[in-house]
Amino acid sequence: MKGILLAGGTGSRLYPLTQVTSKQLQPVYDKPMVYYPLTVLMAAGIRDICLITTPQDQARFQTLLGDGSAWGIRLEYRTQERPAGIAEALLIAESFIADSPVALMLGDNIFFAGDAFPKAVSDFQDGATVFAYHVHDPERYGVVEFDDEGRAVSLEEKPSEPKSNFAVPGAYLFDAQVIEKARHVKPSARGELEITDVNKAYLVEGRLRVVRLSRGTAWLDAGTSSSLHEASAYVQTIEKRQGMKLGCPEEAALRRGFLSLEAFEALVAAMPNCEYREYLSDLAAEVRRVGLTAA
Ligand code: TTP
Repeated sequence: MKGILLAGGTGSRLYPLTQVTSKQLQPVYDKPMVYYPLTVLMAAGIRDICLITTPQDQARFQTLLGDGSAWGIRLEYRTQERPAGIAEALLIAESFIADSPVALMLGDNIFFAGDAFPKAVSDFQDGATVFAYHVHDPERYGVVEFDDEGRAVSLEEKPSEPKSNFAVPGAYLFDAQVIEKARHVKPSARGELEITDVNKAYLVEGRLRVVRLSRGTAWLDAGTSSSLHEASAYVQTIEKRQGMKLGCPEEAALRRGFLSLEAFEALVAAMPNCEYREYLSDLAAEVRRVGLTAA
């Protein structure tokens, strides 16, 4: 499966932070926001990734992430001229997708769902897979309604009267037919190509799988100053308690075997002295001692 990381948008709710830098480059505790969704893709074994940014931010993302080869992945860059909707990413990345299944991930998604995402990727055959996450404010999101047997029966984008508390996070798996479906989506009242309309096209065909994320998993929104702060606090709390980092692409590359231990050590040696380097060099030492342990 290939991956698309969508990191355009205006980030207007984070003004003035986003006057000079894109939302997805802002820090979430100790790393740039985009590291988190990128790590989710990598940890699921996805290493061919198209990163879509605004034209003005592309160079900054390239400075940060390069062509991905340092992490054993391939990154391709495309731009979105204006924020015309999440579904437009599928059209921008059409030649990248070609005839492959694809995971579309929003660049501001802070998503810690344990094995749910890697499992959905490895189980994926065709159609579309989305997730459902219980929230207290579903009216801000795409909302999925279930029948008594737990089957998804409706999807609505930002409904004023939500039919359930289950929001659909910004992580979607599609087969290659998604390009055709995205082509048929008409702009909504707010002038955007809505990803919910793409998902609905799969739902009416009976080809939409909805994986409910269990209690205790985290899907955090980092779109406002206060939710950005909460996301940082969450990451800090978990990292401090467990002594393991969240959203660390180098670690994901090592664990998935995208990088040999030697290549990983060389990468770490080139980092400035900092807490991030210390963490990765401790990890390398542990792997030398006991091999890769599940984590
Ligand atoms: P939003 O948070 O809905 O929009 P935004 O990032 O522009 O922020 P704001 O509402 O504060 O102006 O977008 C969710 C994610 O999808 C975010 O990572 C940006 C991305 N996105 C695009 O890249 N292109 C688009 O056309 C849209 C609508 C969103």
